[in-house]
Amino acid sequence: MGVADGWAKETLAALEARGLKRTLEPLVSRQGPVVQLEGGGALVNFSSNDYLGLSSDPGLIAAAHQAVDLFGVGAGASRLVVGDGPAHRALEEAAARVFATESALAFTSGYAGNVGLISALVGPGDAVFSDALNHASLIDGCRLSRAQVHIYPHADVEALQHQLHASNAKRKLVVTDAVFSMEGDVAPLAELALVCAHHGAALMVDEAHALGVLGPTGGGACEGAGVTPDVKLGTLSKALGSAGAFAGASRTLCDLFLNQSRSFVFSTAMSPVLAWVGAAALERLRVDSSLRERLWNNIRTFAEGLQHFGLPAKARSAIFSVVLGTPEAAVEASLALRRQGVLAKAIRPPTVPQGKSCLRFTVTAAHTPEHLERAMQALAVVLPRVPVQALETFAGARL
Ligand SMILES: Cc1ncc(COP(=O)(O)O)c(C=O)c1O
Repeated sequence: MGVADGWAKETLAALEARGLKRTLEPLVSRQGPVVQLEGGGALVNFSSNDYLGLSSDPGLIAAAHQAVDLFGVGAGASRLVVGDGPAHRALEEAAARVFATESALAFTSGYAGNVGLISALVGPGDAVFSDALNHASLIDGCRLSRAQVHIYPHADVEALQHQLHASNAKRKLVVTDAVFSMEGDVAPLAELALVCAHHGAALMVDEAHALGVLGPTGGGACEGAGVTPDVKLGTLSKALGSAGAFAGASRTLCDLFLNQSRSFVFSTAMSPVLAWVGAAALERLRVDSSLRERLWNNIRTFAEGLQHFGLPAKARSAIFSVVLGTPEAAVEASLALRRQGVLAKAIRPPTVPQGKSCLRFTVTAAHTPEHLERAMQALAVVLPRVPVQALETFAGARL
């Protein structure tokens, strides 16, 4: 056994003791509204971020086949060496159209995008202001930038204003999720934009859970709020059904990212297959609003269902979290739901704050009325037996 194996055993044992050790559970079916896990039966799936049900969409599968024939499977190098091609250009043109930005730049994932964008925008001597419930990729981007990091209480624009006022950093950047990935609420984007303008700060918005869901054309929460931040981050990994990401910004900023985002410069380009599929998914979003309409019908139905259990659910995004407290309670409730044929994974720290382990339900356009009804029947059995603290109460918790 090597030295590092000893370290690993120690760390894993500590995680196990706190109920936080994670394991993989492979699907033996395709991703979709009903899935099958290895060794189990069919489950109605409320744990994917496949909001528009595009992960197995026949049109996108056809685009993937076409891309393999046209481009092969791999980019072969970073974009700046010899990995750039027509598929990447097609993706960036489609992304800029959907985001209504002058330009766009592709990244291999939302995580890589956030890390690369923040550290290209600010550095030592600068300040970055981050919502307390921001996604880990934004948190890591802030840390890697080596700018001074200020964490403001969740969605608290007044507190942010005080922090901006007190800072004498040369460059100030505010970063926020558009839809918070665990809470499901929408950032106060109009107020954030006003405060940023007042303090000469730049604003970056991560639209991961909003793109394809919010906004009159599905362009995201900024589109919905009529806000134009300096930078938007969109992912292909949630509503758009595959993997990869892009920044939407001015031509000048995209040029900066192309030169200074280390996760762009020092990483092999996204596979042309994913870029082509991403371009096709964005085009589908632009021309076809029917999936979004189905999604929103399902979101409203699900929210009403939760309200019948006395939970103050709001139809504001596709994410609904029921906070149970301890990791053990969340895992137990998740297993009880599974016995009723419903998959809603337990979410535990560090994904959520200590004491806020929860069941996270995500609704998609692919759910039928019967699937939604099945979830409510399962909750009727499970909820009375578990210590429900509240719905979406991460706010104020310290991360
Ligand atoms: C808000 C947010 N930003 C970024 C990411 C990372 O995106 P990706 O999965 O494409 O790396 C995620 C989820 O994974 C997310 O929830």
